Amino acid sequence: MISVSSSRLQPSLWPPPISFLGVLILTRHGDRAGFYQDPETYDATATVITPLGTEQEFQLGQHLRSIYLNSSSPSFISGVNASFVDQTQVYVRADAGGELGVIYDSAVALLQGLFPANANYSSDLANGTIIEGALGGYQYVPIESVQPSEDVSLEGYTSCAPFVTANNEFYASAEFAQKQNESAEFLSLLRPFLDGRPVTLENMYNIYDFINVQSIHNADFSKALPPTFLAQAYTLASWHEYNIFTSPQLDGIGNIAGRTILPVILSELQEIANTSNPLKLAYQSLAYKPFFSLFNMTGAAEQQPELAEIVPYASAIALEVREPAGGGEPMIRLNFKNGTGSDFVTYNFLNGTGDMPLQALIDHVNPALINSTAAWCAVCNNTQDRGCGALTAAAANASAAAVLAATPRHQPISPVGAGFLGAGLTLVVVLAMFGVLMFMGLLTIGRGRSRRAGRTASPTNSNEKA
Ligand SMILES: *[C@@H]1O[C@H](CO)[C@@H](O)[C@H](O)[C@H]1NC(C)=O
Ligand SMILES: *[C@@H]1O[C@H](CO)[C@@H](O)[C@H](O)[C@H]1NC(C)=O
Ligand SMILES: *[C@@H]1O[C@H](CO)[C@@H](O)[C@H](O)[C@H]1NC(C)=O
Repeated sequence: MISVSSSRLQPSLWPPPISFLGVLILTRHGDRAGFYQDPETYDATATVITPLGTEQEFQLGQHLRSIYLNSSSPSFISGVNASFVDQTQVYVRADAGGELGVIYDSAVALLQGLFPANANYSSDLANGTIIEGALGGYQYVPIESVQPSEDVSLEGYTSCAPFVTANNEFYASAEFAQKQNESAEFLSLLRPFLDGRPVTLENMYNIYDFINVQSIHNADFSKALPPTFLAQAYTLASWHEYNIFTSPQLDGIGNIAGRTILPVILSELQEIANTSNPLKLAYQSLAYKPFFSLFNMTGAAEQQPELAEIVPYASAIALEVREPAGGGEPMIRLNFKNGTGSDFVTYNFLNGTGDMPLQALIDHVNPALINSTAAWCAVCNNTQDRGCGALTAAAANASAAAVLAATPRHQPISPVGAGFLGAGLTLVVVLAMFGVLMFMGLLTIGRGRSRRAGRTASPTNSNEKA
């Protein structure tokens, strides 16, 4: 394994050995107001980001800039335009689900730190005037707002009946009953602080969230709460959520948040690893849930149990992509920053130590991936919501004859995804769905990718000086 620093020891080499190809960043949103989510369905109520939350994300963006966009950093991304956003190099998606603006706004704040305004963002007009961009050369970075109703990739767990069933089975399990016994006394001590909220272990995420929000924003509450209670509630809520958002089986329903986001993650890592593709910095702004599945599915939480806990606000995973000097297969390094008070730490995964081949990650998770809306509808047994209604209607409307005539040459669904589709559907109907949905543009997860591919350099940037 060749580390990035070995290439820096030879600064006179030109061209330098390609080493640091780019990074995929996954963050949890910043501090927000109160929030409630149903303990069975995980349907959520709206909330808003706070001034503290915007500051946390902005500082995270500045920190990421110091690592990846500073030419004297060992992890400077080779060939990246650090001065002005090159929209072919940077690709951002934000979950627009249960927490509504919080996750999107977190992305905006992070990007303001990552790509600060640059007074050289200007251009010469035909009449001789030089015009500087708004707000002192503010860098506008497109953010794809990922609506759960149109794209299941970032919130695979909502409107998913087998997920609800699994949660209820967990609540009915012997393990859960034992934890209830162990925690009963603590929960009864917490009751007076919970303002009438249901004091049950099932409701543990909401209990923790409430006291966390109050501890940060309510001085009287913070003074009254005994000093260990917040940490105790965090530990219990983490145990609860790890069990909800992971599964003993890689392809278990508890891992659905990871199984739906991983196809996007893997394709972005492959694009970064492909030096003829311009993408260098991909960023997804998320809720805490996919972090559990990702740390479970990659084995990272097994190797480092502290990764089986709720990631604090403004935590970040950085999946760094390196190509060993002299060629060789691209390697992935898993770095994680545990909220605002800590720095990035490298974690082991896939039962190995340090960097692992991208291909090993792909091979490991491949059997569990949910690669398309159709596959998600089958896994979640849903015929109505999140694009499944259109699939069902397409299947119902298509006649067998039309189907045979319209059979597409390429099915944009992997054999893995197709394997889920057996239940209740004939092959003929499935083919009809593909035909109609390909036409409607509904089938692919992570739809922004094709949009990005169509982008060209903007003529307004012609005056940019790096
Ligand atoms: C040049 O064009 C810009 C944009 O239309 C305008 O704002 C500016 O006043 C013009 N300058 C002169 C000297 O005409
Ligand atoms: C994933 O989480 C489940 C609990 O849901 C656990 O049983 C399993 O051992 C974990 N797998 C790994 C690889 O950590
Ligand atoms: C992150 O911080 C929390 C405390 O806020 C701690 O309990 C947890 O173990 C830390 N996780 C990691 C991976 O360091």
